[in-house]
Parts: sequence; C-alpha cells; structure tokens
Amino acid sequence: MSTPEVIVHEDSGTLAGDIASRLLEALELAQAGGGVPQIGLTGGSIADAVHREVARRAVDSSVDWSRVVFWWGDERFVPGGSPDRNATAARAAFLDTVGVDPARVHEMPAADGALDLDAAAAAYGEELRESGSGAFDVLMLGVGPDGHVASLFPGHPALDVEDQVAVAVRESPKPPPDRISLTFSALAHSRQVWFLVSGAEKAAAVAAGLADEGSVGATPARGVRGQDSTVWLIDSAAASQL
Ligand code: 6PG
Repeated sequence: MSTPEVIVHEDSGTLAGDIASRLLEALELAQAGGGVPQIGLTGGSIADAVHREVARRAVDSSVDWSRVVFWWGDERFVPGGSPDRNATAARAAFLDTVGVDPARVHEMPAADGALDLDAAAAAYGEELRESGSGAFDVLMLGVGPDGHVASLFPGHPALDVEDQVAVAVRESPKPPPDRISLTFSALAHSRQVWFLVSGAEKAAAVAAGLADEGSVGATPARGVRGQDSTVWLIDSAAASQL
C-alpha cells in the first residue's frame, strides 16, 4: 500500500484541469504500453468538472476512447437515466461525446424493477469479477464532508462487508437512501487511487483523512490506498486545515 501524497491547487477550476490532464496522460501511457486501461469513476461536483474538462481536452489527446473500460465506485439506486445517477452525469459530461465503446462502460444496475438492491449489488460484483482486469489503473474517489468515499459512510454497516465486491447500502445519510458501493476490499484493487476534493466544507474531512491517527469507521477515506500511489488532489480551501 502506498503512502498518501497531497497536491494542492489554487481553486476548483485549476484542480479539475490538472486532474483531467493527469487522467488523459495515464490513459495515453497505458495504451502506449498496449493496455486497455480500466478506470473507476466517481460522482459529485468536482468529478463533474473533471469530466467536462476531459471532454474539452479529448480532441487534443491521443487517447483511443474505444479502448478504455469504465466502472463506478458507487451509484445511487434510482431509475435508469435519472439525473441523480452518477452514470447519467458522466455520460452527459463526457462519455457520450468522446467515442467510448458502450460495451466497455459498466454502469451499476438501476432501480428499474428487474433486480432488488441486494441482487443489483451482487450482479455488479459478478460483472466486475468477470470483466474486470483485476485492478483499476486509476480509481477516482470524491470525498464527502463527513469523510465518506464511494457510498461508504462513517459508522455504516456497509463498512464492515469484506466478503463481497459490491454492497447494498441502505439508509445512506446522504440522499438518496438506497445505493450500491464497491467495498473496501474491491476498492483496494487499484494501482492508483486519486481523491478529488474541493471546498472549505471538506477541509475537516481532508485533515482527518490524512491525519497520523484516526479510524476508518469515523473517516472512511482512510480505508482506501492505491497499490502504486495514493494522491489527494485538492484545492486550497479543502487544504485549509492541513
Ligand atoms: C454520491 C457520490 C459521492 C461523492 C462525494 C463528493 O453518490 O453522492 O458518489 O460519494 O463523490 O459525496 O461529492 P461532492 O464533490 O459533490 O461533494
């Protein structure tokens, strides 16, 4: 497991631009080596800004978007196409415009009546086991003001699920209440983990995430590290308590 590194940008705009360039660079590098990179996407406001920056810069990059595989670390269990879904936002921001192969975009199941929440989480776990390469090249994670990552919230029973790839999350403190999240054991299968954090309301969570002492139960972000690197990409407001 890697030791966390912290990179601070002046504001959310420069932060999103830097993360987008890093992502394009990581994709180019992996593809230059013959790989089909697997990326773990997140939801939230800074992720949205990153996705829009990726779309804007995609024309100038040499990334072959038909050879990138996309997964999500978590998803809200609401009907397909709902604006509340992390996948809907990512599709609108960049996936639908840059030329990805739809077969390589692995959305988490939606609440469309076909599967209940537990079955939906199990199905996604199975899909990742079968079609994943064993590790995400890059896993991006937003962090909540309470220190949650993916849909792993402080003190929630889902934190303790270790024998599943994806877990059903009920009564999430952040709406909507029903969600699917990858578990800590699944998130750990990542070469690079990037935490994307912007805003003063996240400063305490960033400080707790990086403190020498602290528990994963209180600050779930402490529980995810990349195999090769763990980078906190944050703006100066989010860094204000470091
Ligand atoms: C969700 C997101 C969530 C998000 C963080 C940060 O489903 O709500 O996946 O985990 O990444 O809460 O979101 P913001 O950047 O909007 O604060």
